[in-house]
Amino acid sequence: MPLIGNLHGPIRCDFEGTVATHRRKYGGGNGQDIAKAIGISGKCKPRVLDLTAGLGRDAFVLATLGCQVTLVERNPVVQELLKDGLARALSLTDNPELATIVARMELVALEAQCYLNGNANIPQPDVIYLDPMYPESRKSAKVKKEMQAFKTLVGDDHDADHLLDLALGAARYRVVVKRARKAPQLGNAAPHFFLSGKSTRYDIYALQKLPLEL
Ligand SMILES: C[S@@+](CC[C@H](N)C(=O)[O-])C[C@H]1O[C@@H](n2cnc3c(N)ncnc32)[C@H](O)[C@@H]1O
Repeated sequence: MPLIGNLHGPIRCDFEGTVATHRRKYGGGNGQDIAKAIGISGKCKPRVLDLTAGLGRDAFVLATLGCQVTLVERNPVVQELLKDGLARALSLTDNPELATIVARMELVALEAQCYLNGNANIPQPDVIYLDPMYPESRKSAKVKKEMQAFKTLVGDDHDADHLLDLALGAARYRVVVKRARKAPQLGNAAPHFFLSGKSTRYDIYALQKLPLEL
């Protein structure tokens, strides 16, 4: 568990902790903005490719809602944190519900571009999800501190515009980009629509209409 300077305590990937458990149980189900952005509804549970996995928090929400999620992460430390978090959650024999959710999450320890260009055999993802490092800090001091520590670990994602172009060429139905509420959109392509909450905005690039069942 790495300690990042004196900015924050240990950074950990924690799918069984209180924050993840609370979000899993009371997060709002398909009514959450992230679910609407991805296009999750009754029988429509898109296969999601998360090309900026980070600590897997968003991917975990999507897996909780029934999506199969492939998590691609390039930072070697973050990869280890994710591996550790997934393995711990899977090993909890007294929490089969959590194990079922985490079994829908597959980690790929690679740079996104290598994954997309080097895998002719991967199934085409229904939706690609991107959450590159925010260009500006968020309001809450607690989140700010955590984000600062994480930023110290992974740095800025300067290639995020290029990643969007790649994603637009690879997804079947949608690309969804998570941004800070007032941050500029990624790249030059304008999203078709967006969903904005208190601190977060989801920009949605709709390539095709999602079917009712997936
Ligand atoms: C803001 S974090 C994502 C947080 C994540 N959505 C969550 O819920 O925990 C961005 C992560 O994307 C990773 N990343 C950025 N660009 C990437 C790329 N081209 N390929 C793979 N990983 C990338 C970074 O290393 C970092 O860990």
